[in-house]
Amino acid sequence: MSFNNILLEIDDKLAYITINRPKKLNALNKETIAELHEAFAELDLNDTIRVIILTGSGDKAFVAGADISEFADFDVANGAKLSKQGHETLYDFIENLSTPVIAAINGFALGGGLELAMACHFRVASDNAKMGLPEVSLGVIPGYGGTQRLPQLVGKGKAMEMIMTASMITASDAQENGLVNYVVSQDELIPLCEKLAKRISFNSGTAISAAIKAVNANFKDGINGFDVEIEQFGNCFGTDDFEEGTTAFLEKRKPNF
Ligand code: COA
Repeated sequence: MSFNNILLEIDDKLAYITINRPKKLNALNKETIAELHEAFAELDLNDTIRVIILTGSGDKAFVAGADISEFADFDVANGAKLSKQGHETLYDFIENLSTPVIAAINGFALGGGLELAMACHFRVASDNAKMGLPEVSLGVIPGYGGTQRLPQLVGKGKAMEMIMTASMITASDAQENGLVNYVVSQDELIPLCEKLAKRISFNSGTAISAAIKAVNANFKDGINGFDVEIEQFGNCFGTDDFEEGTTAFLEKRKPNF
């Protein structure tokens, strides 16, 4: 895989995707979105990759939003298409991957950038990070899942405030409101994500993938999450990982997943 706008690095069971347009604060243009889709799709097919860490290049931004220069002249139809394609190729796509994705928010995460972090399975931020959905200041609304995922994470009232004021919040405010799980210095950001990734990679990949499906089902209209949990729970009993996990426990040894 060769890319113009992202860097992809694999180290044993861990993959790093770095959005690499620092001069544009890693703003997501069409090509970057397509490259991210390709990278995530490939990595998800690779059974040896157990966790993906997503971050931005440089020390200023995770992603400062969708690339405004690309949609400034769009009409209604093109606007709707932009949003739908974004959901399908990147945002919903990441949320529904089998492989856990951790967002390492190393600076500005604004608009489509915060939406990207919110589509990841959880988030860790550096203490310089600033987060917000400034879209209404541009005469538009968040269109990559922000109106849905932000209230899921921070509650309706805080999400309404953030969306209506278009203001940025600090990393510690984000942590207080459940938007990020941890806040550390920039130097500690990737090491902490790696530590969490390592913990995850000791566990069963098939069980984690089933857990992602069951948790996500809680947030999907018309789907009963409890039914999905029952189905996914049952499926686990047919996996090699279940056999290994339970056998290892009974043999008083660590499982080898
Ligand atoms: N789309 C396109 N380009 C962007 C961008 C975006 N979302 N965010 C930043 N950039 C570009 C700037 O145009 C500038 O490019 P230039 O050097 O060719 O002029 C470059 O990145 C650096 O940004 P700049 O604004 O000069 O940095 P700053 O430190 O003064 O301000 C921000 C940082 C994040 C506050 C500011 O860039 C900003 O408000 N960006 C837009 C955020 C936004 O509204 N995102 C939601 C989009 S839907």
